[in-house]
Amino acid sequence: MALDRPSNPEAPRLAVVGCGRFGTHHLEIFTELANAGRAQLLAAVDLDAKRRKEVEREFKVRVYADLEEMLRCETPEGVSIATPDPFHRAAALAAIKHGAHVLVEKPLATTGKDGRAMIAAAKKAGRLLQVDFHKRYDPVHLQLRDEIRAGKLGEVLYGYVHVENRITVPRDWFPAWAAKSSSSWFLGVHFYDLIRWALERDPVSVRATRQMKKLKSAGVATPDAVQAHVTFQGGAEITFQSAWCLPENFESIVNQGIRLVGTEGLSEVDTEYRGARLASGSEPHQRTMRFGFMQRVPGPGGRERTVGYGAEAIAHFAENVAAIKNGAALKDLSGHYPDGEAGLWATRIAEAADKSCAKGGAAVKV
Ligand SMILES: NC(=O)c1ccc[n+]([C@@H]2O[C@H](COP(=O)([O-])OP(=O)(O)OC[C@H]3O[C@@H](n4cnc5c(N)ncnc54)[C@H](O)[C@@H]3O)[C@@H](O)[C@H]2O)c1
Repeated sequence: MALDRPSNPEAPRLAVVGCGRFGTHHLEIFTELANAGRAQLLAAVDLDAKRRKEVEREFKVRVYADLEEMLRCETPEGVSIATPDPFHRAAALAAIKHGAHVLVEKPLATTGKDGRAMIAAAKKAGRLLQVDFHKRYDPVHLQLRDEIRAGKLGEVLYGYVHVENRITVPRDWFPAWAAKSSSSWFLGVHFYDLIRWALERDPVSVRATRQMKKLKSAGVATPDAVQAHVTFQGGAEITFQSAWCLPENFESIVNQGIRLVGTEGLSEVDTEYRGARLASGSEPHQRTMRFGFMQRVPGPGGRERTVGYGAEAIAHFAENVAAIKNGAALKDLSGHYPDGEAGLWATRIAEAADKSCAKGGAAVKV
């Protein structure tokens, strides 16, 4: 997919940092917006020379090796960051220093300290700090939030979340940094944020345990699974089961669902099985279709466009930058996007879960 229209000079000027598996989605969405006159995709940054060449060829933008050079030369108004987790802080601080608004892939940061530094820098500079928590844009989750806020469940008492990847994700997709992450940091944070957002309650404490068997024996020193029992304000007890150890022949790359029980009702959400399966002699296993995340559909003028909650979350950043460019104040947008504070809460839960695991499951304050 490449830019196939002259840029609209009024549209927000965007750049992407980190052009791997997920940064490519950012490039795709911004390219589509650019082709529709709703953004300009100026440039990208990646440390890997081979990837730089590939992205330049595919997206027809200059890809820099050096972030500072890109920021100096291109002066983007919005920068999206999809580097491995430990680099989010440095990239965000550099982009903010150069006056850009920032979208950061989840998790916002790998420590509460880093997250606070990012929030402080954005606040001081008056810049947007948005986190790509795309689960919030899934219509099924929006429905769940609305049910809770309408009081359909009464007071939420307890619940379970499961989110699991095939072992392929940590072992084969990013073996270079999987050991610095975990299922809790990679998958859990999405749902730590989602449940806090839906309940409108902050977390108070975490008790967590983990298992380290299968991945460790495969040479990746990271937990197979993490169970984080989070107590929220008001007493709701939610268990988040995140795992990276589903077998390779599981029917989808991810498996996820939620069950919440309250004083007046319960709600169950299965975001895995969305109504279609395929079993074919030419495929190694039956496949469940993950509709709704990112899907190509016919678009205007014979060009396809991408729809789905994963696409919406990224496009929302470009829309926010455009709104600010057109005179909106940050406070006008507040509460309408996953902000740095939300990112920080999810990071603090993941951090507390790690501490609790290290203390044999003892309760740790968030
Ligand atoms: N929103 C989601 O559901 C979702 C899904 C997958 C990954 N992610 C997040 O996206 C981020 C990237 O994950 P990924 O799977 O694309 O990883 P990846 O390893 O596929 O890609 C990372 C890319 O960043 C480049 N890079 C590394 N350090 C860099 C730096 N300092 N500056 C510029 N480029 C750098 C690498 O060369 C690579 O091309 C992570 O934070 C991850 O947690 C989010």
